[in-house]
Amino acid sequence: AFVVLDNCIKCKYTDCVAVCPVDAFFEGPNFLAISPTICIDCALCESECPANAIVQQEKVPATQHGFIQLNAELAELWPNIREVKTPPADADSWNGVPEKLRYLET
Ligand code: SF4
Ligand code: F3S
Repeated sequence: AFVVLDNCIKCKYTDCVAVCPVDAFFEGPNFLAISPTICIDCALCESECPANAIVQQEKVPATQHGFIQLNAELAELWPNIREVKTPPADADSWNGVPEKLRYLET
C-alpha cells in the first residue's frame, strides 16, 4: 500500500483523492490517511501530492516508519473522503516544515 507521511500534516491539499480509483483516503482534521486494505498500489496519488507526502510502503524513510501503522489506524477511525477540498489558507507556509507529527489532530 501507499502511505501518507509527515508533510501532509497541516497542508492537506487533497489533490490525492481526485485520482484514487478505489477511494482509499480517509480524512482527519489536518491530515489524510490511506487504508492499506483498500489501496491497490496503483501509484497514481504519489505524483499528485504538492507536498510530496505519499510514498509506497517499502520506500517510507526509517524516520517515518510509524506512519505505516498510523495510516492503518486512522483510516479505520476517520470518514472516507472522495472529493477535493480547498486546502487550509496557510497550507503553503507549512509545506516542507520538518517534524509536523506533533501538530497531528485526531
Ligand atoms: Fe489510491 Fe492508488 Fe494512491 Fe493507493 S496508490 S491510495 S489506490 S491512488
Ligand atoms: Fe495530503 Fe498531499 Fe493528499 S498534502 S491531502 S497527501 S495531496
